[in-house]
Amino acid sequence: MPLVDTKKMFEMAYKNGYAVGAFNVNNMEITQGIVDAVAEEKAPLILQISRGARKYASMSYLMAIIDVAVKENPDIPIAVHLDHGDTFEICKQCVDEGFTSVMIDASSLPFKQNVDTTAKVVEYAHSNGVVVEAELGQLGGIEEDIEGVSSDEVSKHLTDPDQAIEFVNSTGCDSLAVAVGTSHGAYKFKTVPKLAFDVIEKISKRLPGFPLVMHGSSSVLKEFKDLINKYGGNMPDAMGVPEEAISKAAKMAICKVNIDTDLRMALTAKIRQVFAENPAEFDPRKYLGPGRAAIKSMVKHKLNVLGCNGKAAECL
Ligand code: 13P
Repeated sequence: MPLVDTKKMFEMAYKNGYAVGAFNVNNMEITQGIVDAVAEEKAPLILQISRGARKYASMSYLMAIIDVAVKENPDIPIAVHLDHGDTFEICKQCVDEGFTSVMIDASSLPFKQNVDTTAKVVEYAHSNGVVVEAELGQLGGIEEDIEGVSSDEVSKHLTDPDQAIEFVNSTGCDSLAVAVGTSHGAYKFKTVPKLAFDVIEKISKRLPGFPLVMHGSSSVLKEFKDLINKYGGNMPDAMGVPEEAISKAAKMAICKVNIDTDLRMALTAKIRQVFAENPAEFDPRKYLGPGRAAIKSMVKHKLNVLGCNGKAAECL
């Protein structure tokens, strides 16, 4: 089956209390690890591509890799999504290139400008059969070259539920990324975090059935953090979102959960381990292979945390 958009996935996720994993892809091994995991777990999938990924791997290579994944897995609904498009032009380009979903992130602009930019993207995307995720409120942390608010400031930049209702009604966006206390990257918190579940609840009460998105949702798994630190890395203060909090949000109106850092850490941990244990190794297959296998088992675990394992068929 061809690529799908996220409408049916979100409808089922909302109704049945789970979230779909949106995983960032940058190369073949990362994509294969993710796709092999969803194929075994029979889960719906969103593969997302950031501006940095486009620059690193080029769109044609990434789309060709995804094309193979789609052809080899006809029973798995797969959406391809632009992560953090920051201008109308980049969103338009992705719509024209065959993405089935785009994100316009104009959340750093004043409210009115965010509304206007998002509405323009919605108009173009919808006229081409593509869905749009927008963002309101500001996350913390650093994602590629985009720096969010500092970790101490995150709680002051949460999404305002009243504004969210107005934003969704005036833009016609299909889903909304909300700031509920998460941050991008590996250094999200200094102490055990509390997510603002009340923000999710308030929005969903007034916009029943409307899908919300949680960015910055890596957990910084202990297994990979420990391996990185053991084998010459230096990430002692890395801290992510507890998985219980992700599962709780997934049962609420959060229908899409974004994960990138956990993929990066799984791959890095295994590569470090191979190099430390076999300093003479120079065959890329011998370190990228274990990295890909680690991504696969990590993603299988995440799909259970999100509750979307076994849900592929109902999303087709
Ligand atoms: P993490 O850095 O927590 O993986 O978040 C990724 C993300 O939100 C991509 O948009």
